[in-house]
Amino acid sequence: MTSLVHVSLSDLTCRGYDIFIDSYRILQFGEFLTQFEPYSSVVILTDDKVHEKYVSDIYELLRRSGFDVHLCVIDSGEKSKNIDVVIRIWNQLLENGTDRNSILAAVGGGVVGDIGGFVAATYARGIRFIQIPTTLLAQVDSSVGGKVGVDLSATKNMVGCFYQPVGVLVDTSVISTLPQAEYICGLGEVAKYAVSLDSELFEKLESNADKVNLRDSDMLKYIVKRCCEIKARIVGEDEFERVGSRIFLNYGHTFAHAFEVISEFTLSHGQAVAIGLVYAARLSARLGMVDKNFVERQIEFNRALGLPMELPQNLLSTIDWDNIISIMRHDKKTESGKLRFVLPTQIGQCVVVNDVDPKNIVDNV
Ligand code: NAD
Ligand code: GLY
Repeated sequence: MTSLVHVSLSDLTCRGYDIFIDSYRILQFGEFLTQFEPYSSVVILTDDKVHEKYVSDIYELLRRSGFDVHLCVIDSGEKSKNIDVVIRIWNQLLENGTDRNSILAAVGGGVVGDIGGFVAATYARGIRFIQIPTTLLAQVDSSVGGKVGVDLSATKNMVGCFYQPVGVLVDTSVISTLPQAEYICGLGEVAKYAVSLDSELFEKLESNADKVNLRDSDMLKYIVKRCCEIKARIVGEDEFERVGSRIFLNYGHTFAHAFEVISEFTLSHGQAVAIGLVYAARLSARLGMVDKNFVERQIEFNRALGLPMELPQNLLSTIDWDNIISIMRHDKKTESGKLRFVLPTQIGQCVVVNDVDPKNIVDNV
């Protein structure tokens, strides 16, 4: 059965949208599109890997059904998330005759979604776009909430805007073909939601880790729905990350971002987030906000889900905490260089702690 999660935005512009969650729905893309009629043409943006696995079939189906559909394929991976690739896509849209009444569908992981949304926000002063996320990370996080953009040199997500899709179609069956490393990447974000915002999700994952690890179909649908509900609620409250609650989605991320940088991005974002959750739990214990059992439970949780619990030995043995603090001070989310963390108070609850003394971070290991 299809689950529906509505993202209701707190203004009068009717930009709210639905997230449809089901399995084996991706080939019914044509039917999904009908709700957005009228449109002049459809542009599918995807990457080469997702194209080969799923999009070539969808494209053919749409073409044979008489859709005016254009295909735009980029190389897979973060290396594509830059303005040069955006310029190439803009030019391709222009050559195809894409107009303001066209609709862009981003079919792929977070890279395709972030680029697709940015292209849609900027081409012809904005065209409608749909997210069809195919990684776990994109299904539980990046396809919802409208953060779109590209990296600027080595600085991730430095250029972009908030631009909401008009709909999101999640087919959880495509997760079966996701490489394990990418699955772990998504699970890191799922763990973030569970520990910081949803004790029921935490307990369900804790007691069904085998199903999570086997990518059980019902479990995946439950996870995606639950995470999308949390994200929809928070985006509805704080779309532009101004009033506060959206910052809770960054639990574990201040550590994670610094760990990604010191590893020269050999650690994936999801691995770094998973390790960041353990460091955030330890920091919270150090500040007297949780007890040692909480930290142990977090570590066991990571172990059960196959998530890393600690930095790899080569990074741990050479760790330079002054450098880490300096990276944290320059984090996009830092205000006036003060160290601000989202920290847990119990499973499923967290608070923002401002101006943390760096000594507590260094002694946190
Ligand atoms: P990704 O888009 O690079 O996809 C990972 C890999 O999986 C790629 O090689 C892709 O081709 C492949 N793939 C995708 N779907 C597949 C499938 N079903 N089967 C087999 N292979 C498949 O990475 P990601 O982890 O999805 O996204 C990471 C990006 O998302 C980063 O750029 C990050 O900054 C961004 N992000 C954005 C937000 C947001 O709110 N906008 C939130 C979190 C992350
Ligand atoms: N992934 C964090 C956010 O969307 O705000």
